[in-house]
Amino acid sequence: GERLNGAPIGVFDSGVGGLTVAAQILRKLPSESVLYLADTVHVPYGERPLDEIRSFALDITGFLRSMGSKMVVMACNMSSAVALGAAREAFPDTPVLGVIAPGSRAAVRLAGDRPVGVLATTGTVSSHAYSAAVAAARPGTAVFEQACPRFVPLVENGDAESPEAYEAAREYVQPLLREGVGTLILGCTHYPFLCPLIQEVAGP
Ligand code: DGL
Repeated sequence: GERLNGAPIGVFDSGVGGLTVAAQILRKLPSESVLYLADTVHVPYGERPLDEIRSFALDITGFLRSMGSKMVVMACNMSSAVALGAAREAFPDTPVLGVIAPGSRAAVRLAGDRPVGVLATTGTVSSHAYSAAVAAARPGTAVFEQACPRFVPLVENGDAESPEAYEAAREYVQPLLREGVGTLILGCTHYPFLCPLIQEVAGP
């Protein structure tokens, strides 16, 4: 109905990272509105236990729903990795979307016959959600996952273009290049802010 269509799409992340997703939603669906929650009390999520991330994600999904969101997008890879199934079960009337399966499908299209590289937080890497999602998208594709613990604090502090960020990008990207990856998944929604530096290291 009219009221439902006027309701916002709820979007959340630990901090500013999910704004990269919100921007794409608004670009593709310009007549929609977004209700955005940044969990700045708990940022960074990266090194926290996965159970804790799951419980944050369920609380936030419920909150965004209670604020009238017609659907919820987990604009956070860690939440998508560990809480998508639980949130869909807890809120069966609300569509809940994650970012890992769509990113994995796009990556296998781009990688050709070469392996897929994943840059992500420690938690997302330890969940192996990307290895599973890439395998589901195209069985047999090799996946190399690299944890990047220095990235999120750099972005949250506004240092995405600093020499420290460039050094971190070299440290994290070069091992994946040595594996011959055909594409890189930015497996954390903060990382698009580092895309220019990552591309400088990785090339086109
Ligand atoms: N931006 C989130 C993600 O995509 C979490 C980053 C963090 O707080 O460590 O995983």
